[in-house]
Amino acid sequence: MADTWDSSLYDDRHSFVWKAGAGLLELLEAKPGERVLDLGCGTGHLTAKISEAGAEVTGADSSLSMIAQARQNYPKLKFQLADAREFTVPEPLDAVFSNATLHWIKQPEMVIERVAAALRPGGRFALEFGAKHNIERIRLGLEAALLRRGVAAECPWYYPSLGEYTTLLEKHGFAISYASTFPRWTKLEHPERGLREWIEMFCGSYLSLLPVSEHGALLAEVEAALKPEIYCDGFWYADYRRLRIVAVR
Ligand code: BEZ
Repeated sequence: MADTWDSSLYDDRHSFVWKAGAGLLELLEAKPGERVLDLGCGTGHLTAKISEAGAEVTGADSSLSMIAQARQNYPKLKFQLADAREFTVPEPLDAVFSNATLHWIKQPEMVIERVAAALRPGGRFALEFGAKHNIERIRLGLEAALLRRGVAAECPWYYPSLGEYTTLLEKHGFAISYASTFPRWTKLEHPERGLREWIEMFCGSYLSLLPVSEHGALLAEVEAALKPEIYCDGFWYADYRRLRIVAVR
């Protein structure tokens, strides 16, 4: 997969992604000396929080741009380029943490299998990502606008139900100790440009189906269609829905 991430824009305008991961940090309960992997660490902010708890943490991400930004943000921490479907670790881990990453990977069992292999018996997998129906309004709005231009787009994300994902974890030997799914509508930062900035940041695979000269008209059409549904009191909202799970190997 091409590395299309703009990591400084991500840090600048989309900090809500890692800030919203604070609840998952509480569930992780990292302890001093524990070996923890932050899988899909992005620009490293949650890796740093795990380190503040005294754990020996490594941040891993498949984007070189994200890893470079993470190293710049936190020069004392360890970050490495890794694909969640293929990674290995030198020593068994006490915990794997993953926030807002796993919906980007359409081969969930490859990831779960790697995580199981990386954890010691009794080690925990604390994860949060997009659940079934995550950002459905935005996704359907974009897909409809593309279809009006004769372009049929495939959803680039994996959004399972809670039952589907916990079943996969159990199939790979995990016991579920916490599981929830919940809506989390998220206010986007810029009052006027919030939705288009979000789409430009995260929906490259849709936008790439049209020439750049047509992006402006497409985005204006999506904004007009979605305004009655997700624009409120002067701000745009992303209709996130999360899966949050802690599973023990
Ligand atoms: C999410 O965190 O749920 C998400 C972020 C960007 C694109 C799609 C989903």
